[in-house]
Amino acid sequence: MRAWLPERQVYGPEPPGERDTEGLNRVFADAFTDRYRRDGLVGVRVPHLNPQVWRYALLDAGAGAMLWRDEAGQVVAFNIAHRSGAEGWMGPLAVRPDRQGAGVGKAVVQTAVDWLLGQGLTTLGLETMPRTVENIGFYARLGFSPGHLTVTLTNDIPTRGHQPPALLSQRKGTAGGEALEAGRAARRRPPPG
Ligand SMILES: CC(C)(COP(=O)(O)OP(=O)(O)OC[C@H]1O[C@@H](n2cnc3c(N)ncnc32)[C@H](O)[C@@H]1OP(=O)(O)O)[C@@H](O)C(=O)NCCC(=O)NCCS
Repeated sequence: MRAWLPERQVYGPEPPGERDTEGLNRVFADAFTDRYRRDGLVGVRVPHLNPQVWRYALLDAGAGAMLWRDEAGQVVAFNIAHRSGAEGWMGPLAVRPDRQGAGVGKAVVQTAVDWLLGQGLTTLGLETMPRTVENIGFYARLGFSPGHLTVTLTNDIPTRGHQPPALLSQRKGTAGGEALEAGRAARRRPPPG
């Protein structure tokens, strides 16, 4: 006898609002933590992003920010597609692990591709880690082909003989507001020359 299972539906795309930050963060952290685990990095736990980072990303992407929900209204998937001049870029994008492998990712990428191409672009791309061969296969099936390998090199400020900068979140009392105001003032000053 077959057990009865409710039909699994996904609804979208719809524009995410600030009230969706928690849901976006949960899908982001769970999907990328699961991705690392499947790549053998079992100890990595991807943290939730600062809500301000989401706020900025959503405002910046405008109609390119898209989310999909399940039957209960919970976030199932999202894709942040950006347009910059003649270039369109996707990501981050993710599908909640319990809904992967059922065609949702394909729909999420295809919807953003259609939206970006509708803007008259000449380049369309995204970044993925070379170790995630599954993702490379996934994107290749959707018509993407690998470009140049990019390598990110970092050099921590303290190793160059400077004091490490104090994070905004670690500045006590009024020091946080003062640092923000100093930053705003520096931005308003005309550059030399
Ligand atoms: C990558 C991700 C978005 C894919 O979503 P998904 O819902 O699992 O993908 P789908 O079920 O839509 O798969 C789409 C197609 O890709 C195919 N595919 C998947 N892996 C593949 C592989 N290694 N080689 C070839 N095809 C592959 C599937 O078979 C399917 O094709 P079909 O519909 O013709 O059978 C999802 O796994 C995810 O969120 N991963 C974690 C976060 C992440 O890595 N984000 C992307 C960072 S760049």
